[in-house]
Amino acid sequence: RLQAVIFDLDGVITDSAEYHYLAWQALADELGIPFSREKNERLKGVSRMESLEIMLTGSGLALLPEAEKLRLAEKKNDHYKGMIGRITPADLLPGIPELLDSLRERGISAGLASASLNAPQILERLGAAHWFQAVADPAALRKGKPDPEIFLKAAELLGAAPGNCIGVEDAAAGVAAIKAAGMKAVGIGSAAQLGAADLLLPSTSALDAGKLLELCAR
Ligand code: BG6
Ligand code: MG
Repeated sequence: RLQAVIFDLDGVITDSAEYHYLAWQALADELGIPFSREKNERLKGVSRMESLEIMLTGSGLALLPEAEKLRLAEKKNDHYKGMIGRITPADLLPGIPELLDSLRERGISAGLASASLNAPQILERLGAAHWFQAVADPAALRKGKPDPEIFLKAAELLGAAPGNCIGVEDAAAGVAAIKAAGMKAVGIGSAAQLGAADLLLPSTSALDAGKLLELCAR
């Protein structure tokens, strides 16, 4: 029985994954170090400080003092905040409002499992907070994705058994976290990154409640 669907935010509810990429690229340009969309795939779903570590790996800046790293992470976040400050409800990805309405009509709960400390603000800007009965707080976690903790926390807040939950993700680390939580995983993206998903869809427009119910039953 499908009790709950637990969503990632960036790249699933709205295209803020692109803003994360652009903000990291801007920081890399300022630092004069190489960065690419390919490298960015490894940052998806990963916390801000861990992302910075991955970005700096092999750049000659990997051994900067911690205080300097915190300053760089803050710089990236300043770029990012400038971009998300312009988000409106029109930025909900295709099919997402319909899906969330349809889950609500069927009595299936919705939860959010985002690693982003900016998630509550983005939900507000999207006018999407009302759809979610639970938002897991990434600041309270011991381990980030691919650890299952954030998905298990969201399920617990919703009072749902993990086996009755589906997780939706656009990141490899996120799909791994969902599977480790004992949930069925829907991947939004390409098989190259998300081959481990139980159901792979090219975009959110292909996502609907019927497909999720079918996935849960199999
Ligand atoms: C995840 C993104 O949702 O949040 C990552 O996929 C990002 O790219 C992480 O690094 C942390 O986000 P923030 O907003 O707290 O820097
Ligand atoms: Mg994501």
